[in-house]
Amino acid sequence: MFITFEGIDGSGKTTQSELLANRLKQIRGENYVILTREPGGSSFAEKIRGIPLRDNIDPISELLLFVSMRYEHMKKLILPALGEGKIVICDRFIDSTIAYQGYGLGVDLKLIEDLHELLRIRCPDITFILDIDVQVGLNRVNYKNKYEEMDICFYDKVRRGFQEIALKKTNRCHIVTQIEVKDNNQVYSEIYDKVIIPRISFFKVES
Ligand code: TYD
Repeated sequence: MFITFEGIDGSGKTTQSELLANRLKQIRGENYVILTREPGGSSFAEKIRGIPLRDNIDPISELLLFVSMRYEHMKKLILPALGEGKIVICDRFIDSTIAYQGYGLGVDLKLIEDLHELLRIRCPDITFILDIDVQVGLNRVNYKNKYEEMDICFYDKVRRGFQEIALKKTNRCHIVTQIEVKDNNQVYSEIYDKVIIPRISFFKVES
């Protein structure tokens, strides 16, 4: 089972992916749940992660960097773990590229989708999209990368991208809308009670 968390910076996905990983470890056992992240997740990707996050490069070059990091991450960590029957939880994946490079920077969405399809990048089974007001999200981050320094207009496009992905991919994506600021437990209960609990027997018996 491959689960991803997506959303704009400051949406709380890192906290939620950790909460879910800890809960599923209690159910399935410590060694059966892998928590990973993008950009990163493999030693190659962790080494070059800083380049697209810092350098001003052409959006297509940036796309190719994210995709090469993802390919390596998928080959070295995600596919082997899934092959051993583990649950993999990833903080950001394909949808971040569609939202940031596609909707945000204007890279052709079809190019992004075709590239992932051609490379047979593994599609997540469940994706949680944490939707939050852009200003509320940005108030929570402490400006570590170039995106977080971009204007509200960029983030409005990225947020709309995530919302459109959720509307298009209804089988896979569950959007958790934080109209007013919800505390971590409220968000977690929407994720756990509504989506994970109905599948709990699957998480227990899958091998
Ligand atoms: P983030 O998860 O925010 O890392 P951290 O919590 O350590 O700051 O990811 C860093 C940034 O990378 C984030 O602003 C979104 C961006 N990003 C893309 O633009 N495209 C992608 O495909 C991915 C995976 C991330």
